[in-house]
Amino acid sequence: MSFLSNSVSFIIAIDLGTAFSGYAFNITPRNKDISPQVKRWGQEKGLDTPKAPTCVLFDQQQNFQSFGYKARHTYLKMKAAEAKQSYYFENFKMSLYGKVKLSIVAANGSTMKALTVFTEALRFLKEDALKTISTNANNQKFLPSDFTWVLTVPAIWDNSAKQFMREAATQAGIVSKGSEEKLVIALEPEAASIWCKKLPADGFLSDNHSRTALQKTPGTQYIVVDCGGGTIDITVHEVLRGGALKELHKASGNDMGGQNVDRKFKEFLREIFCDGVWDEFEANHPGEVQKLMYDFTYMKQEDEEASLSCPYSLIKVAEKKKDIDDFFDKIKGVSWSNGLIQISQEKMRSFFEESLSGITDSIREILKKKIEIKYILLVGGYALSKVLRDHIKNQFGSQYEVLCPHLPQEVVMKGALMFGTDRAVIASRKSVYTYGYGYCERFDASKHREDKKFTTSEGDWCTDLFSKMVEVDEDVAVDETKKYIFSPVEPNQRAMRMRFFCTDRPNLTYIDDWGAEQVGQFIVDMPDTTGGSARQVKMEVIFGQTEITAKATDLLSNSEGKVTIDFTSNRDIRDNMFKS
Ligand SMILES: *[C@@H]1O[C@H](CO)[C@@H](O)[C@H](O)[C@H]1NC(C)=O
Ligand SMILES: *[C@@H]1O[C@H](CO)[C@@H](O)[C@H](O)[C@H]1NC(C)=O
Ligand SMILES: *[C@@H]1O[C@H](CO)[C@@H](O)[C@H](O)[C@H]1NC(C)=O
Repeated sequence: MSFLSNSVSFIIAIDLGTAFSGYAFNITPRNKDISPQVKRWGQEKGLDTPKAPTCVLFDQQQNFQSFGYKARHTYLKMKAAEAKQSYYFENFKMSLYGKVKLSIVAANGSTMKALTVFTEALRFLKEDALKTISTNANNQKFLPSDFTWVLTVPAIWDNSAKQFMREAATQAGIVSKGSEEKLVIALEPEAASIWCKKLPADGFLSDNHSRTALQKTPGTQYIVVDCGGGTIDITVHEVLRGGALKELHKASGNDMGGQNVDRKFKEFLREIFCDGVWDEFEANHPGEVQKLMYDFTYMKQEDEEASLSCPYSLIKVAEKKKDIDDFFDKIKGVSWSNGLIQISQEKMRSFFEESLSGITDSIREILKKKIEIKYILLVGGYALSKVLRDHIKNQFGSQYEVLCPHLPQEVVMKGALMFGTDRAVIASRKSVYTYGYGYCERFDASKHREDKKFTTSEGDWCTDLFSKMVEVDEDVAVDETKKYIFSPVEPNQRAMRMRFFCTDRPNLTYIDDWGAEQVGQFIVDMPDTTGGSARQVKMEVIFGQTEITAKATDLLSNSEGKVTIDFTSNRDIRDNMFKS
C-alpha cells in the first residue's frame, strides 16, 4: 500500500464524552502540519454537529444496535413497552468517575457489564472513523493497525479508569495485544491546552488582537478549564522555550459539569409537575423525557428567557389531576402559555448556581498557590454556555484574561491529534501520588520493626520496607526513566517479586502503613543461581506518560519481569476488602 508509507501521518483521536462524542483524524504527509478533520454528525436528521450524543442502544440479547443520533432516535420512537425491554445508555462515562463500576444501569433500570458498553461504543466509533477516512481517500480500505489512535480521558480520573479505557479499546479491536503502543491515552485538559497554545489571538471568542499565540511567549502560565458534560477538569501549564508545556499543578477538578445544570432543570420540572405527575410521565414516556432534556441542552447555551414546548403526553398525565394552569400557580420563574413552559432568565440562571460555584471554587484553589497565572481558558461543550463564560469573566476577569476558543467542543479532539504526533509537547507533569515499591534490607534492631524480621541462610532481613520512587507533587519529566538494582536475599533464590504501592502521603516506612495501596506487582524469574546472592536484577520504571510502566530483568538469565501494573484488578481487591 503505497499510500501508507512512512511519509504519511495517520492519526485518529476519539473523544468519548459524557454527553457528546466525536473524533478527529489526520492523513497529511509527515512533513506538513497536522490538519485535523472533524467528522460531522447528524446529517441524516438535518443536523450538522461536530459530535454525536453519547447514547448506545442494545437489543434484548445485549447485542449492539446503534450509537449516537441513531440510537437516540430509535429509542425515542419506541413504544413504551418496547423501550422498557431495551438496554439504552447515556451518560455512562461518569460511571468511571471516582471508582470504576463493573456494571452500569440502562434507562430501563437493568444493568449490563460496563466493559461491554464502553467497548461497543468505541467499536462503533472505530469503524465509523475507518469508513469516513476511506471515503475521503478514494475508497481505499484501511485497517486499525494503519493508524495511531488517541483516546481522551479526564485528567482527574484515576489510573484504574484509564486502564479500563485501554482494555475497552483493545476489546473493540482498536489495537491488538502486542501493539499497545499504537494506542495513546491523552488527558482531556492537556489536549485542549496543546491546541489552544498555538491559536492566534483571533482564535478566541473574546477579541484582543494585540496578543500573539501563547506558545510564542515562553514563561506564560495559564489555567485550562475543560468544562465537559460530566466533569470539570483543570490543568495548569507554563509555556517553555520552544513551546513545550510544563504542568504546574496536579490535575484537579470535580463532577460539576454541564449535566449538573440539566439535573437542576429536571428537579424543577418535578417540582412543577407535583403529585407524582412527573414521575408517572418519566416512567411511561422515557423517550419524551429524553427529547425534553435534549431541547434543554440547546436552551442552556443562551442567557435569556426560555420557552419549552410541553410534550402532549405530559399534559395528558397532568390534566388527570387538575387544570394544567394550576400547576404553574405558586411556582416562581415559570409560566404556562399555550402549550409552552416559559422559564424566566433568572430561573434559568439558578440552574447553574451549584455547578458555577463548584467551578469557581476549584479555580480559586489553584490561584491560591504562588503561580503567575495570566490566562484562564474555558474549553469543552459546556463552555458554549454564555452563563458559564460570563460568570467566570465576572469572577476572575479583573485579574486574569478569560479566553474561550472558537468551537470549544472540538478543542479536546483536535489537541489529542497533535498529542498523538508529538507526545514530547508535554515536557513534565506533577505526580498525583507518591509511588514506591516494597523491598528488603538487612535487619537492624535499632530502626526496624521486630515483626518485619525474617531469616535466610544469609542472615536476618527486614521485609515490607517502602522505597519511594516519586513523591506526590513532584515534577516528573515525561518518559523519565528511573533505574534500580536489586539482589536476592537467598543465594539459591529462583524468583523475585516486585510490588508497587501508591499513597497520598509524602513518604511511608512500610508498605502496609496507613494510606498505602498496592497498585501492581510482577515476578522476575531468576533460574540461573550461579552467582548466588551477588546476582542482580535491574528494574526500569518509566514515569510521566499518562500511565506508568515498570520492567525488570535478571541480568544473568536475561529473563524479564512481565511488567503489568494492573490498576483495575487491584482496585477490585481493595473494594472487596472494604466490603468484608
Ligand atoms: C430491561 O430490558 C431487558 C432486556 O429486554 C430485560 O431483560 C429487563 O427485564 C428490563 N428491565 C426492566 C426493569 O424492565
Ligand atoms: C490585551 O492584551 C494586551 C497585551 O497582552 C494587554 O496588555 C491588555 O490588557 C489586553 N486587553 C484586554 C481588554 O484584555
Ligand atoms: C522516607 O522515609 C524513610 C523512613 O522514615 C526514610 O528513611 C527515607 O529517607 C524517606 N525518604 C525520603 C525520600 O524522604
